Amino acid sequence: MDMNSDANNTSVGHILVVDDYALNRLKLARILEQQGHTTTIAGNGIEALALMRTTAFDVVLLDIVMPEMDGYQVLEQMNANSGLRDIPVIVISAVDDIDSVVRCIEMGAVDYLPKPYNPTVLNARVQTSLQRKKLRDLERSYLQQEIMLRQSEKLATLGKLSAGMAHELNNPVAAVLRGAQHLSEASERQLAAHFKLDRAGLSEHQIALLESLDREIRDEATKPGELNALIRLDKESEIEAWLEQAAIDNGWDLAPSLVNMSFDTDRLNMLAECFDGNQLEFVLNWAIGRYTLASVLREIAEGSGRVAEIVRALKTFTYLDQAPIQNVDIHEGLDNTLIMLRNKLKQGVSVHRAYSADLPLIEARGTELNQVWTNIIDNAVDAMNGHGELYLRTRWEAPWVVVEIEDNGPGIPESIQGRLFDPFYTTKAPGEGTGLGLNISHNIIVQKHGGSITVDSQPDSTCFQIKLPLANSRTEE
Ligand SMILES: Nc1ncnc2c1ncn2[C@@H]1O[C@H](COP(=O)(O)OP(=O)(O)OP(=O)(O)O)[C@@H](O)[C@H]1O
Ligand SMILES: [Mg+2]
Repeated sequence: MDMNSDANNTSVGHILVVDDYALNRLKLARILEQQGHTTTIAGNGIEALALMRTTAFDVVLLDIVMPEMDGYQVLEQMNANSGLRDIPVIVISAVDDIDSVVRCIEMGAVDYLPKPYNPTVLNARVQTSLQRKKLRDLERSYLQQEIMLRQSEKLATLGKLSAGMAHELNNPVAAVLRGAQHLSEASERQLAAHFKLDRAGLSEHQIALLESLDREIRDEATKPGELNALIRLDKESEIEAWLEQAAIDNGWDLAPSLVNMSFDTDRLNMLAECFDGNQLEFVLNWAIGRYTLASVLREIAEGSGRVAEIVRALKTFTYLDQAPIQNVDIHEGLDNTLIMLRNKLKQGVSVHRAYSADLPLIEARGTELNQVWTNIIDNAVDAMNGHGELYLRTRWEAPWVVVEIEDNGPGIPESIQGRLFDPFYTTKAPGEGTGLGLNISHNIIVQKHGGSITVDSQPDSTCFQIKLPLANSRTEE
């Protein structure tokens, strides 16, 4: 804005004077310059529009009757251009031509200047238009700030999620990688044992025994056994001693795997009754091979299943492949949010869900509601320092769908409850909170969905209640 204000609170600006009659425009320009404005002159509509596209003007003084392109056409073109639409236009007209003035005002001109000019009237009208321009510019810059704020809102929620997501994906991906590395080693070991057994001349009965052993082993491999280290050591040395006494090589190598498979000396004794010494060694190696293979496959399946679950949750969480407004299942949104925040919750938050069985779907912006759940649950876990009880409740209370999210943290002092939803209000240390979470949530629930969000808090219980209407009447972006 190249407007300045002097002590009398009058503004000066850059004014475009458009008149086909040279004497008129020069006269006007001179008066304006004397009043402190800067001016540019144009002799017709085409020239005027060309100037407006390259130079920023605060006000345009526009003659109506001009050859080639008249004032109406200039107004029409200005209206069609979002960059020019907001420049105030004052039309110049003879006092007796009130019909043309009315038409120009209908087309968006803000005022008119009667001919012949009176410098005081001219100045008064220009001042009003300059003020108007100043307000419009201010409004525009607020709007710009608002847009920037909205963008940082989206980033704020994304930031909360992505930190946890990296953690959550890391473990299963590592398990899959480890599994893939072990797979070839395990299958080779098993194949070698298999060939040896093949040449060991097993009877029908022995083969049947192996088949049932195989089923048991694979069954065992689906249960990840976590043994206490000391108990484990005991069991291993017991088995190692048994193997040594049975003259089986590499007992120290076989024992840990046999413990994993829940083998004990009773089981070994049973096997020893059915297989001779040589056969038994092959059988054990083969069994370990089968077990290792099955466990590695289980690890890979679990790991990739977990990755798939996270990706699926992420996809529905962001409603990536769907329209911005759809029929939203609130329970699905809450559950996906819990999956997304699992890393943060798993340290010590117990989640209690009391979902209403007859909650209707609502027409809403699914991704944005998920941002709200994320922000509120994130706050609750922060308030409880990662340890406590989290309650999620839903119910249908015509005409509202009601969602309540409660924690048993320390509560919110009454003195700050009124400021919770203000942008940038935070009690967290710099770098830990931006103070946008609840402001974003408020915008989403109230402005975008026509709902309400309230908080009820005392020591040991803070409950955020969200009410949403069935249908979304808001179309605001
Ligand atoms: N469940 C809660 N228990 C206690 N205090 C809360 C709770 N929820 C919000 N608050 C308070 O409200 C403040 C504002 O929350 P808001 O989510 O808007 O910002 P923030 O969590 O500080 O930062 P962020 O932008 O990262 O979310 C918090 O700093 C906290 O003091
Ligand atoms: Mg927050």
